[in-house]
Amino acid sequence: MNHTDPGQLALKAAFLVTVIFSFLFGVLMEVFFEFKILPLIIIDVLLFTFVFLVFRYTLEKFIYQKIRLIYKTIYNLKRPKGTKSEKRDYEMNSIENANKEVSEWAEKKKTEIEELKKAEIYRREFLGNIYHELKNPIFNIQGYVLTLLDGGLEDPTINREYLIRTKKSINRMISIVEDLETISNLEISQIQMKMVRFDVVELTREVFDFLEFKAKKKKKELMLASKDEKPVFVIADKNWIRQVMVNLVDNSIKYGSSKDGKTKVSFFDMDENILIEVTDNGSGVAPDEIPRVFERFYRTHDARSREKSGSGLGLSIVKHIIEAHDQTINVRSSLGVGTTFAFTLKKV
Ligand SMILES: Nc1ncnc2c1ncn2[C@@H]1O[C@H](COP(=O)(O)OP(=O)(O)OP(=O)(O)O)[C@@H](O)[C@H]1O
Ligand SMILES: [Mg+2]
Repeated sequence: MNHTDPGQLALKAAFLVTVIFSFLFGVLMEVFFEFKILPLIIIDVLLFTFVFLVFRYTLEKFIYQKIRLIYKTIYNLKRPKGTKSEKRDYEMNSIENANKEVSEWAEKKKTEIEELKKAEIYRREFLGNIYHELKNPIFNIQGYVLTLLDGGLEDPTINREYLIRTKKSINRMISIVEDLETISNLEISQIQMKMVRFDVVELTREVFDFLEFKAKKKKKELMLASKDEKPVFVIADKNWIRQVMVNLVDNSIKYGSSKDGKTKVSFFDMDENILIEVTDNGSGVAPDEIPRVFERFYRTHDARSREKSGSGLGLSIVKHIIEAHDQTINVRSSLGVGTTFAFTLKKV
């Protein structure tokens, strides 16, 4: 490592000047007078001391003090806000140290800027998505109300029908806003999980009952891996896990196979955790879309083209809930074969 503090630099400079001077002075003495070693040594010592002091003073005064100031400013900028400034020995820090710290600082700032840029793109996409999702129901409601005001209200063939459609659009908007509120609360950790012990098999049966009508309408069968599944106790927030189950089973009904559609829920004992799998034999998700299904508002190409999907918030909520329990969720899927969502819960 190079040592370039002012003292060492001044030493090197003084040494160089003295050597050059000795050589020239020696040659001149030899040519014009007689070469004598003692005066040369005395002059060399004086010159060395003089050059050393002048160099050291100049470096200190005009260069190092300024570098130290920059270094100190950067060090204070690097320090997290609110932390006390630690007393640093700036004297000891050479240009290399300052350079190293400045490079580290620049690298950190670069990463921060990249993250901010990503967040900005994400924010813009998010706003665009909200606008896109709310635009349709709002314009629909506007259309129905204007038609009713323009005489439709007195027309018995459409008045009731248009009010029912208006109600549907309003319900859709309410559902999007509620989902967004849930995600936002889960993201800022405002919701405390109320951890209780419960039987997750029984909860799954409740969810099956709740979605039975929808499943029957779409000719889908909901089943447990084993008919006489024994109770499986976990510790988690029961209401939120019900929401997870509803969202996953609802997806399996919506995106399940139109012929012989089946949803199967299985439970596996994994030492400390219980692994719960929700499997369907539906359309599946393309490999390049799998990593994106948990994103807010994301819908696969297939779902969008068939217009059977919702707003793409269900799985984002599911992931937030599972992560709020410090557990994990993942998905396996093959196009045309089916999809399995697997998540863990703490066993008791
Ligand atoms: N079981 C599944 N099989 C195939 N594709 C699925 C399945 N579950 C989810 N997907 C895909 O992932 C996307 C995101 O699912 P998510 O539940 O977040 O949204 P959604 O069902 O479209 O709307 P929401 O749940 O908000 O009503 C879906 O639009 C669909 O494309
Ligand atoms: Mg869904």
